[in-house]
Amino acid sequence: MKKAEVVLIPIPAMGHIVALVEVAKLLVERDDRLSTTIFIMHPVLDPSTTKYTESLAASTLPDRMRVVNLPNLESNTEDTKDRNWLNSMIESQKPRVEEYVSKMRTQSQLSPDSPQLAGFIFDTFATGMKDVANGFGVPWYVFSASGAAFICSMFYLQALHDGEGVNLTEFKNSDALLEVPGLANPLPAKLLPSMVFREDLLAIFLEHARTLKETRSILVNTFLEFESYAVHSLSNGKNPPVYPVGPMVKHVADGRDLRSDESNKYRDIMEWLDDQPPSSVMFLCFGSWGSFCGKQVKEIACALEHCGHRFLWSLRKPSSQKGKIESPSDYLNFQEILPEGFLDRTLEIGKVIGWAPQVDILAHPAVGGFASHCGWNSILESVRFGVPVATWPLYAEQQFNAFQMVIDLGLAVEIKMDYWRDFLGDNEIIVSSDDIVKAIKHVMEEDSEVRKKVKEMSRISEKSLKDGGSSFSSLGRLIEDMIDNIS
Ligand SMILES: *[C@@H]1O[C@H](CO)[C@@H](O)[C@H](O)[C@H]1NC(C)=O
Repeated sequence: MKKAEVVLIPIPAMGHIVALVEVAKLLVERDDRLSTTIFIMHPVLDPSTTKYTESLAASTLPDRMRVVNLPNLESNTEDTKDRNWLNSMIESQKPRVEEYVSKMRTQSQLSPDSPQLAGFIFDTFATGMKDVANGFGVPWYVFSASGAAFICSMFYLQALHDGEGVNLTEFKNSDALLEVPGLANPLPAKLLPSMVFREDLLAIFLEHARTLKETRSILVNTFLEFESYAVHSLSNGKNPPVYPVGPMVKHVADGRDLRSDESNKYRDIMEWLDDQPPSSVMFLCFGSWGSFCGKQVKEIACALEHCGHRFLWSLRKPSSQKGKIESPSDYLNFQEILPEGFLDRTLEIGKVIGWAPQVDILAHPAVGGFASHCGWNSILESVRFGVPVATWPLYAEQQFNAFQMVIDLGLAVEIKMDYWRDFLGDNEIIVSSDDIVKAIKHVMEEDSEVRKKVKEMSRISEKSLKDGGSSFSSLGRLIEDMIDNIS
């Protein structure tokens, strides 16, 4: 029996590490010929990620799965604002990865029973490591933490720029509508990721798109029936093959992965949800970078009081230092930010929390709606558990995701699609409580069209992962391709 070793390399940010750990699990659980090694680059972006990587090292991983923490490089500890920090980190970690993989190889050559190196899977933003794979003469694959439609848009923008000489930064504030392959409707250009509008960051974006075209194939956390239009559009023979292998979602629970303070919070939240009627709770949660200024928090609070639905609100405190990119923290006391008396007045219907075990909350039958920043993982979790989203995108490709969900797929409702969070400035747009109320009422409406559609998509997603389903088959084909790489 041929045994194959696959090396996975995420960029050092929470969502990306979690995603590749899930990919590794998926591979080893599916096929016992496969082994996986995940390299984690250090320093990671923020303290919660450090906690997570430490917990990984301490937890018992499934068989044939290992995590290697690369040494912390002092040269990289500063200045994540430098647009090249990621590239320079990858450059400086390359020799370490090479050294480690060489050792693995030497060992495997000594014993014919051990797995042979079959390839690398890189995060979309870690393809700078491709030389390492090329050096070992094995193929490299890319795992995309974005959806298939967004990949279409990357190729589309790169073709506009490289092929037709379009100055993409001019799309900022323009009213142009773009015919992006993979979307059924024209996309307002201003909903493109903000990095496209900045000359320096655009160069990085385009470089990623070009490199993505060289990969052996792209694994996407999506499923065919959900993004069929985009998956078909990518499969035009001109792009690398795509393998939709999702939806992958990660439960934190059975409580095992949680630290003790978290497991108390976890129990408290779950017990509260257990007491609520089915589909009655609006859940608000804006991701690991999601926080708002005081004025906006008051508009949200006002909306929640006004519409009167039950709610569970993950409210995080913005970084205190202006101009510094720092993830939010928990409030010591919510009264310092909420309108006076809010907590008392909503005691019967609502619960304000800090950290939230999002997947487990969405999986709970009491939850009926989800106000989200539309990170791709959150979108998939909404679809997986049949909870419609009210879209409030903040940064990265989230505006694009919101557009796809609301306009293209009809699986979400808009709070504000063109909202964006400026981390370095203070020109924050304020969304009015009226707009928030309207969207919450819409998603929470019993038997609404959007709720029915999301529930249906949820059933389909479950099937896609089972034997014979689209993602199941797609993963099988991918694994055969990997095994074929070893001679
Ligand atoms: C693209 O357009 C912007 C804004 O009009 C301009 O400042 C910039 O120089 C242009 N870039 C190129 C490469 O032509």
